[in-house]
Amino acid sequence: MNFLNLFKPKKSYMCPLMNTNLHFTSRNTLEPCCSANIGPAFVEKLSEKESIKSFVKTKKKYIEMLKHGEIPKGCTDCVHLQDYQPVSDLRINKITLNHYTQCNCACIYCTQANRTLEKIKEDMNKPVLFDVLKFINELYDNDLIDTEKLYIDFQGGNISCLKNHEEIIDTFMKRGVGTIYIPTNNIVYMPLIENLLKMKKGEVCTALDAGCRETYLKIKQVDKFDKSVENLKRYITATGNDAVIVKYIIVNGYNDNLDEMKLFTDKMLEIGVRTIVVDIDYRDIIDGPFTIPKHYYDLVHHAENVCRENNMVFDIPPYTRSVLEKGFSSK
Ligand SMILES: C[S@@+](CC[C@H](N)C(=O)[O-])C[C@H]1O[C@@H](n2cnc3c(N)ncnc32)[C@H](O)[C@@H]1O
Ligand code: SF4
Ligand code: SF4
Repeated sequence: MNFLNLFKPKKSYMCPLMNTNLHFTSRNTLEPCCSANIGPAFVEKLSEKESIKSFVKTKKKYIEMLKHGEIPKGCTDCVHLQDYQPVSDLRINKITLNHYTQCNCACIYCTQANRTLEKIKEDMNKPVLFDVLKFINELYDNDLIDTEKLYIDFQGGNISCLKNHEEIIDTFMKRGVGTIYIPTNNIVYMPLIENLLKMKKGEVCTALDAGCRETYLKIKQVDKFDKSVENLKRYITATGNDAVIVKYIIVNGYNDNLDEMKLFTDKMLEIGVRTIVVDIDYRDIIDGPFTIPKHYYDLVHHAENVCRENNMVFDIPPYTRSVLEKGFSSK
């Protein structure tokens, strides 16, 4: 042991997600972040919870721990961990709604549940786990939300299958919200999304993952490629393409070939999509060590080049970017 280390001042850390995010999960828990692949730092069971106050208190404790150089086990190696900087406003500015799993398709990669068409039918009849509005209203009532910046991320199953989605969106719109982000398979056209886009309060993101019907069917297990593309086009025609994002998740053995990616980018150009995100199936990244196959980079570079040449926006989520840069995932 080097005794001099005992006298070294400990490094201070912070995590912007821990500071200001809130994640309602389908595991019936409340968590401080939704880093998707790692963590979280701590978990609180939601069952029988009447108030969100104890969660806010625990969160403060963890913020202090990081500040004093103690990294919680769940945060080790997380890309969101940073050197400490003082932050004056610790009100919630991002809420992830992941408390429901009901969906109208069955993506083979879906991390929400083991997706089969039978499971999807079963899920449809299940009640939603808990009422998020009780907790959200409590946060608003106690000035614990930054109403201007608040970013809502509707993860979960598919929003069209969440029975009280209108009431939830109405609450945010009435009480104050910055942006409502809606990832959706886009199988059902929703006038409510069109309105949010028109009011510049919404963003919609669809993981199409394919450039043709056949591949889409293999991945999503429903024959809805044309419907989903038609609905994307409808939103773009009605509201412009600023807030319509389309994603391609590279799924090993299904769509990890350049021909499919080319069909996909051609389709994006045809319907006027402006923002493309490329991701990697999280199962590869989190299920154990995974070496990124060389041809994945060809797909990524093709999408990136098409975006550059056509003045479109290209993005890769932060954790996937770090794995692509390293060439492997090590979990
Ligand atoms: C669980 S879905 C719920 C929202 C909506 N049904 C959708 O698919 O867009 C939330 C997000 O997680 C992404 N996702 C789910 N499983 C994934 C996986 N194995 N790898 C990468 N992204 C995944 C989906 O593409 C979607 O953007
Ligand atoms: S460091 Fe990572 S795991 Fe920890 S709270 Fe932040 S985002 Fe979550
Ligand atoms: S559309 Fe979304 S929730 Fe439904 S199966 Fe696919 S990834 Fe999962």
